[in-house]
Parts: sequence; C-alpha cells; structure tokens
Amino acid sequence: MLNVPSQSFPGPSSQQRAASGGRSKVPLKQGRSLMDWIRLTKSGKDLTGMQGRLIEVTEEELKKHNKKDDCWICIRGYVYNVSPYMEYHPGGEEELMRAAGADGTDLFDQVHRWVNYESMLKECLVGRMAVKLTALKDYREERRVLNGLLPKRPATDAPAMESPSSPSYDWFQTDSSVTIVIYTKQKDISLESIIIDHQDGSFRAETIMKDYSYLIHIGLSHEVQEDFSVRVVENVGKIEIILKKRENTSWKSLGHPLEMHLSFIPRKDRGLYYRKCQLVSKAVVTPDTRLFCVALPPCTHLQVQAGHHVYLKLTIAGTEIVKPYTPVSDSLVSEFKEPVLPNNKYIYFLIKIYPSGLFTPELDRLEIGDFVSVSSPEGSFKISKLQELEDLFLLAAGTGFTPMVKILNYALTNVPSLRKIKLMFFNKTEDDIIWRRQLEKLAFDNESTCFGMEWQTGTHFTSSSL
Ligand SMILES: Cc1cc2nc3c(=O)[nH]c(=O)nc-3n(C[C@H](O)[C@H](O)[C@H](O)COP(=O)(O)OP(=O)(O)OC[C@H]3O[C@@H](n4cnc5c(N)ncnc54)[C@H](O)[C@@H]3O)c2cc1C
Ligand code: HEM
Repeated sequence: MLNVPSQSFPGPSSQQRAASGGRSKVPLKQGRSLMDWIRLTKSGKDLTGMQGRLIEVTEEELKKHNKKDDCWICIRGYVYNVSPYMEYHPGGEEELMRAAGADGTDLFDQVHRWVNYESMLKECLVGRMAVKLTALKDYREERRVLNGLLPKRPATDAPAMESPSSPSYDWFQTDSSVTIVIYTKQKDISLESIIIDHQDGSFRAETIMKDYSYLIHIGLSHEVQEDFSVRVVENVGKIEIILKKRENTSWKSLGHPLEMHLSFIPRKDRGLYYRKCQLVSKAVVTPDTRLFCVALPPCTHLQVQAGHHVYLKLTIAGTEIVKPYTPVSDSLVSEFKEPVLPNNKYIYFLIKIYPSGLFTPELDRLEIGDFVSVSSPEGSFKISKLQELEDLFLLAAGTGFTPMVKILNYALTNVPSLRKIKLMFFNKTEDDIIWRRQLEKLAFDNESTCFGMEWQTGTHFTSSSL
C-alpha cells in the first residue's frame, strides 16, 4: 500500500506555495532585471519624489497613493514609493498593486518574507507611519535601522496567537564554566531546536518551539572562550549551554539584556538573523552545479533540519540580495566523504549557477576564504512524518533534489518500517544528474532492502528500479 502523508503538495505554508494564487514570476520587459533596478537606485535619481525628505505618513495620506504611477506601500511601519519599482517587480505590477496605498506587510510576508526590501527600496523610502495602522501588527524585528529611524518596541512581547507555554531560563557557574539552562517544557526538543551565536559582545540563543521562537539575548558580564557545548535532555525538554570562562572569577550576574531578550513570539515575526560564514571549498558536481561548503563562525551552533532551508545574503553592487537554499550533507554515501570535516561546523549547498542570474554568478565568483552571510533556518517540513512509512516516493527535478539528500539519509537510517524508497529524478540531460554515481551506489548497496531510482532526462529515460 502506498503509505504517504495525506498532506497536499506543496504544504500549506511551504515556500513554494507562497502567494495565495500560487507562485508566479512574470516576464519582465528588457532592461527591467534586478541588476537594472540596482543600477537605477544608484543613479542618483529622486525615486520618492520627495527630494530626499523623510516624512511622517498618516493613514489618510497613504490611502491617496494607490495608483500605479503614484503607489505607496507600508511595510513594517515604513512607507515606500514603489511606483518606480513597478516594472522591475518579478511578481508583476498587479501583485504589487494589491498593497497599493495600504499596509502590505502581511501580503509581503506571505509571499517572500525573506526578500531584502529595505536594502532594495532604500532610495524609495518616503518615511514612517505617523500612527499605527489599525491592521498594523506590532512588528518586532530585531534590527530595523533605516536612515537612523528605529521603530519602538517593547522589551518583552506577549505571544499574539495560541502558543506553547513560554520557556524560562536559569544559569549557574563553577570555577571554570557557566551553564545556561533553558526549560522549554516541550518533549520534542533536539539540537536543531537551538541556534546560538556569540559574537561582538552579544550572546544570542534562539530556541525554536513549533512555530514560536524564544530568545535569550545578553551582553555577557565576563569573557568566555570561543568553544562551548550544547546538551539537550529530550525527555524533560531541557537545553544546557556550557560556556568556558576565560578567567576563573566568580560572576555576579550573567550579563545585561540586549534587544528582544526573553521575547517569545511567532517565528514569522522574528527578523532573519545572519552570521558571516567563510567559504571553505567549492567543487564542480555537474556542468552547472557546484557543492559549496561554508564554515560557521567558531561561536555559532546551528543545525538545519531535513527539508528546511536557509537564506544566503551577498551585497551585489551595494545592495543586499537574499536567496533561499536548502543545505545538504556532504555526500550520500560514506566513502564519498573526503575530506572529512566535522559535521556540525560546516554547511553544504548544492547550487546551480545561472549565467544570466543575479545571485549565483556572484556566489560562484567567491574565492575560498571569502564570506557569505547565512540566515537561521526556516521551513515547516516535519521529518517525523516519515516515521512508520512503508513506501516513500520522492520526485525531484534539477536542484530540486537538494531537500531529498537529507530526507534520503534519514529514511535509510531512521525509518525501520520502510519497505521501499523510490526516487524519480528529472533532468535536462544525463550529465545534469547530481551525484549520479553516489545514487547508483546507494541503490546497489540497498538492493536487498529498499532503495530504487529512476532517471527522467530530456531525451532519455533510464530506470534503475530495485
Ligand atoms: C525554499 C527554496 C530552496 C531553494 N534551494 C535551492 C538549492 O538548494 N539549490 C539551488 O541551486 N537553488 C535553490 N533554490 C533556488 C534559489 O533560491 C534561486 O532562485 C536560484 O539560485 C537562482 O538565483 P539567481 O539570482 O542566480 O537567478 P535569477 O536572477 O533568479 O535568475 C534565474 C534564471 O531565471 C531567469 N529570469 C529571472 N527573472 C526572470 C523573469 N522575470 N522572466 C524570465 N526569466 C527570468 C534568469 O535569466 C536566469 O536564467 C531554492 C529556492 C527556494 C524557494
Ligand atoms: C506587498 C505586496 C507584494 C506582493 C503581493 C508581491 C508578490 C510577489 C510574487 C507573487 C512574486 C513571485 C513569487 C515567486 O515566484 O517567487 C514576487 C516576487 C518578488 N518580489 Fe514581490 N510582492 C510584493 C511586494 C514586493 C516588494 C515591496 C518588493 C521589494 C523589494 C518585492 C520584491 C520581490 C522580489 C525580489 C521577487 C523575486 C523573488 C525571487 O527571487 O524568487 N515584492 N512578489
């Protein structure tokens, strides 16, 4: 029996079902690419029509600017004149007009929360909303500093929708260490639930609990060593972060609270947090696909769940550009794992380079040792859905194969009930099949058990069903 989850595809909150009417990039006119837009924003042209003045915008004023050639949109309390951007918007003018003269934050977030509009539209900023819009939520991003304007927000937030009960934390010390303990009161906590960054005097530990995020954000009172360890006691939902003191002095306090310390809010309301990661290696996998390996900073703990993605950010021609990518493991089978790098400090990406694309050629130009910013993970796929499955059918095309890598690894090692896994992999030509030898080896090694594959290419159809 085909025992697949009843969930529709793409999942209701999947990145691939972002717009209510489905995803739809429109063909843009010649000369209206993102790169052309960046050039226009650097041209010195007055794109707001306000000669560089920033104003406080009332709700009545905002409403008046609702036509294509005079279109203002409010996002997170800031108002932008998007008329000059109309013809450049990859989602089309009609989509942008859905938010004309109004607060477009929810619409924007539904479609592409990750798009770095602040950087892309900084020359279109008209000002800030004078009063809260009735529908305007209390947006609680972590860093929204635009032209010196910083929206007000409370230090601690009460969750807006039904939420798991708020976690709490405590700390204790020995002569040589400080242990921060987070009590989540949840049983399904793992090492992937906690993201830690300690840099530039800020210690940041974000705990992900279902759709909620709990943040400890402090300036530590004393210095600690770079390396720390994290332990999760799953059955009681306890997370322990063990920091090593630099000096064996007794700490009177853990430190002072920083922005959003102890906030417990829906994940979607937490701004994306980035850390700079160094490119460690880049290998050619197919004619247009590379395996990139980036190293997390030494003071970061971040693990990406199967089926989840992160955002990579690069500054291109002075504008921050963000694109989503799904981390993979370094290989599918162990003997391909050369050189062996400790797993948790590196993130691997299989990325197709589009010669006429904006982001990927820039990524491809990075030299070993260069930096790229990597966000905290996002996604709604729950790998636990695979538990107790008997048959698993995976469909992938091109780099759409990337989520399958961790799913395959997980299914082959953690789902004892599985009788059969079948991967159908669609590609333009046979040369484009990512990790073909590894897939063949995986199928061969698991012949007696369960793994089978079929290739579908532009001209050939090769079957390797077991
Ligand atoms: C959740 C998620 C995970 C992803 N994971 C991965 C991954 O693991 N690996 C991976 O390689 N990719 C992944 N992607 C895709 C990735 O985010 C980028 O879209 C991709 O890398 C292209 O980026 P780019 O800026 O280089 O190209 P773009 O500038 O977006 O261009 C891509 C191609 O489309 C053409 N094009 C652009 N705009 C238009 C238009 N309006 N009309 C017609 N043609 C147009 C360009 O000429 C080019 O050929 C993922 C996407 C999502 C949503
Ligand atoms: C608020 C109303 C908006 C709506 C309803 C909307 C809708 C859409 C849609 C449907 C797409 C195509 C989705 C896809 O295929 O990936 C898209 C893409 C895009 N939009 Fe918007 N948009 C809005 C506002 C904005 C704004 C203000 C910006 C400013 C920068 C913006 C920037 C982009 C970019 C960069 C893409 C391409 C994303 C990619 O690379 O996949 N959008 N939008």
